Amino acid sequence: MKTLREGLNRILNRISDRNGTGRSLTKADELVLLLTGGGKRHLLRLQPGRLFHSNLGKVQHDELIDLPYGTTVYSHLGHALLLLEPSLDDLMTRIKRNTQIVFPKDAAMIVRRLNLRAGSRVVEAGTGSGALTIALAWAVAPSGRVFSYEIREDHIEAARSNLEKMGLLKYVELHSASILEGFEQEGVDALALDLRTPWVFLEQAHRALRPGGFFAALVPTTNQVSELLQGLEKTGFADIAVEEVLVRGYKPVPERLRPDDTMVGHTVFIISARPIVDAENPGRWLSEERKRFEARKILEERVAEEESKRASQPSGKRHSRPRLP
Ligand SMILES: C[S@@+](CC[C@H](N)C(=O)[O-])C[C@H]1O[C@@H](n2cnc3c(N)ncnc32)[C@H](O)[C@@H]1O
Repeated sequence: MKTLREGLNRILNRISDRNGTGRSLTKADELVLLLTGGGKRHLLRLQPGRLFHSNLGKVQHDELIDLPYGTTVYSHLGHALLLLEPSLDDLMTRIKRNTQIVFPKDAAMIVRRLNLRAGSRVVEAGTGSGALTIALAWAVAPSGRVFSYEIREDHIEAARSNLEKMGLLKYVELHSASILEGFEQEGVDALALDLRTPWVFLEQAHRALRPGGFFAALVPTTNQVSELLQGLEKTGFADIAVEEVLVRGYKPVPERLRPDDTMVGHTVFIISARPIVDAENPGRWLSEERKRFEARKILEERVAEEESKRASQPSGKRHSRPRLP
């Protein structure tokens, strides 16, 4: 039995080596996930000699090392646990929280709107608890970097500890500073703002981005979105989009497939934009909807002007004025 398992492990190891990214077997010092029958998810780093314990009983870490992911293991009380490779969602949602954190569904959209890939250089503020930092580091690793700014020392230390636990600190440069002073980096590929007043920092963001770079910000309320949109228009950003991510889960019962009873209603709006280098006539890059609104506003102002002129004319002359547009 043992030689059969060793043979299988050797094959799995070879597959892992060949495809480079896939980890088929657990290794010491790696993060793994133990899933219980009741759906509880335990994240742990495998360390020889250590013991995992929960209300379902204990398991020696040594028993979990060198096993294929997807293996069912048993606690000393006989409860089954499924050994899995942790996902990005698991890392983001299992951190210690000091602040409101970015949800994985929103982080996925931000990674997309920032056009991140391995090797990208991305700036972020504020770091908060580091949930978004985890998603950014995950996307740009191993050759890229995240430069993350945070004004509060206690938040930066909590985020450092979270990133360390998740094994992603090596891809992140933490800056303990207010971004009001600007960013140390120039020519970065992408920049994300997750703080209350992103419109205050748009000039700093524009200066840090490379031509062709990608910008995104997250805010929870519509009035913040309006303020940010006005700021983006004034600061030389184009290709502006406002989006919201709604995810509806389903109960995975083949014979009775139906949506979950509840879902997350609202988290944040995601506003994305691209910096314009040539600031000449930035108005031409407004969306069609925005241009139509501007045109309508100008027309309404002209009508109001004409009406007030007419009202001030003696009544006998009023009928000779041109028709209103
Ligand atoms: C909503 S939290 C960010 C949460 C984070 N994205 C996460 O997923 O864990 C906002 C953070 O911005 C920080 N912040 C506010 N103003 C700042 C500034 N001017 N410069 C740097 N950080 C700032 C706050 O201290 C706070 O930690």
